[in-house]
Amino acid sequence: MVDLAAIVAEIAEEMRAETRRGTVASYIPPLACVAVDKFGLAVVMADGAIHAAGDAEEAFSIQSISKVFALTLALGAVGDQLWARVGREPSGSAFNSIVQLETEHGIPRNPFINAGAIVVCDVLLGRLQPREAIGQMLRFVRELAGDEHITIDETVAQAEQDTGFRNNALANYMRAFGNLNGDVDLVLGTYFHFCALAMSCRQLALAGRFLMDGGRVDGHRIISDKRARRINALMMSCGHYDNSGDFAYRIGLPGKSGVGGGILAVAPGIASIAVWSPGLNAEGNSELGQRALERLVQYTGWSVFEPRVG
Ligand code: DON
Repeated sequence: MVDLAAIVAEIAEEMRAETRRGTVASYIPPLACVAVDKFGLAVVMADGAIHAAGDAEEAFSIQSISKVFALTLALGAVGDQLWARVGREPSGSAFNSIVQLETEHGIPRNPFINAGAIVVCDVLLGRLQPREAIGQMLRFVRELAGDEHITIDETVAQAEQDTGFRNNALANYMRAFGNLNGDVDLVLGTYFHFCALAMSCRQLALAGRFLMDGGRVDGHRIISDKRARRINALMMSCGHYDNSGDFAYRIGLPGKSGVGGGILAVAPGIASIAVWSPGLNAEGNSELGQRALERLVQYTGWSVFEPRVG
């Protein structure tokens, strides 16, 4: 029997001593000013037990982790029709890369790179005004986490808007291929607000429970078990951009990262895990977040590739 409370505390202690912490994102001031020595970890077990350590209660910018929740909402809105406009293959490229769009006719490789998430937002705006889509997202993550205190950081959303030249290029380029229907500014405004969701590790791990528990939260169905399985598969294959193969190799869990330094990881049937450390590796994923998850699977044997009896 593993003592999860002790393991989580031990990992937080180990990470405190780490000196190679990566580099904090610097493209917008609200991310650049976050202290590199922050570290939080929260593990929510299938039976509801929560183990947290370090800065697990402090809200941070979840950034691209929001792409998981946006994808879930878009699949709920249009189902498998989504896949006519976004692929399901790893990109092997940076999160904000434009290169594949040229040869692949404006169809992004997957919903977890920026181009794919922008199309996902466009799909949501096929039925909702931006204000409604942003409200729907906020209600959704609050419901998933069971926490009404989750907010969107308007300072982050505005800073994203002010510096979003690449995202503007991606959106306009896809529009030229006929894969973006809405007004570019409105689609990006929605996308930036999703990126600006602020959540703590505890809130994020709670919000990930539906992916741990076959689409349910506390017995209440959010999505089908098949859809939960498939979103987990996409997180495993595409959740860390050009670092996804290495994440699967080292950690072996579905996961999604953000440039705020957060990672949501799922051990299906076992636990929903959120880790936060703002220093990033070269591919824009949390350096210590990955290391902490690596330690967690070493301690627990939670990798999905671990042989299971029965
Ligand atoms: O859209 C962008 O480029 C930023 N909001 C960052 C997105 C992100 O988190 C990419 N991930 N690692």
